[in-house]
Amino acid sequence: MRSIVTGGAGFIGSHLCDQLLDMGTVVCLDNFDPYYDPQVKRKNIEPFMDNPDFELVEGNILDKQLLCELFEDVDYVFHNAAQAGVRISVDNPSKSHTANATGTLNVLEAAVNSGVHKVINASSSSVYGKVSYLPFDEIHPNVPVSPYGASKLIAEHYCRVFNELHDLDTIALRYFTVFGPRMRPDLAINIFTKKALKNETIEIFGDGNKTRDFTFIDNIVDANIRAMKNGIGEYNIGGGERISIRELAEKIVSITDSESEIIYGESVKGDAEHTWSDVSKASRDLGYSPKIGLEEGLKRYVQWYIESTDQ
Ligand SMILES: NC(=O)c1ccc[n+]([C@@H]2O[C@H](COP(=O)([O-])OP(=O)(O)OC[C@H]3O[C@@H](n4cnc5c(N)ncnc54)[C@H](O)[C@@H]3O)[C@@H](O)[C@H]2O)c1
Repeated sequence: MRSIVTGGAGFIGSHLCDQLLDMGTVVCLDNFDPYYDPQVKRKNIEPFMDNPDFELVEGNILDKQLLCELFEDVDYVFHNAAQAGVRISVDNPSKSHTANATGTLNVLEAAVNSGVHKVINASSSSVYGKVSYLPFDEIHPNVPVSPYGASKLIAEHYCRVFNELHDLDTIALRYFTVFGPRMRPDLAINIFTKKALKNETIEIFGDGNKTRDFTFIDNIVDANIRAMKNGIGEYNIGGGERISIRELAEKIVSITDSESEIIYGESVKGDAEHTWSDVSKASRDLGYSPKIGLEEGLKRYVQWYIESTDQ
């Protein structure tokens, strides 16, 4: 089996490369975008660089010609390359749109012209946006509140349309805030952990009452592997429980035995009020259920953080 992981040097992509290397050969396509330190991304894939089944291609999903060449002998495309993050999408919506909407369109066009069996698209809970009811099932209205959410929704629509027009198998996995080893440095769990371990003040954007469904990375990888063989369309992939940002910070302070004070600042534009996944559809069609919950995931993350960074 031959797979390509776009954005394969990133947080989620590098975990997928790791798992897929047990199943065959893997091409990692990444442009080492400077949104966060590209050295972090190089470190993510360092363990695979000597593996003869692993190939790194430094390139851009906006290069359609390159995609066509790479997809020629590939079975599965795990499309994770994106401009992730809500805040940057508020400041620079064009960048998010180009990477996430146009980039996904390119991936799909290249996939149609090749022998690709299926495109597994990394989508996001951000496609829901404004809450009509909780938890979100897949038929909850899509009213994104950030350019990021809008761009991920466009990408999903392209996946659906390509499936209908060209009979290309596509699935969009709506990830709910993912955390774990190698997580993106801009995400709250990383920032809170770093501060807590140094007993520094933790600042929460807003009053801390926003809630999130956090998903441990192993659950995300498991869902991707299941999605290779089953499911067409959109699926929630979450942890299935939610917690307020205030409780999250308190949990991290407790796990790290920290003396950090928690303070509250201005809320950030584009941040959804609440997210919470109903994963019944993924459970029924993919056999997915989150194996690692928040508490266990946080402990594993803190342990990894301590072992992998100079305190
Ligand atoms: N981490 C989360 O909580 C989360 C939640 C929902 C959805 N997602 C989605 O999951 C996917 C992976 O997210 P992540 O957290 O691992 O982010 P990440 O930033 O760590 O990984 C994305 C990778 O894509 C690469 N990339 C960006 N633009 C590219 C381009 N034009 N061409 C080639 N490579 C490019 C980046 O260099 C990076 O290595 C994204 O599609 C993101 O939108 C993530």
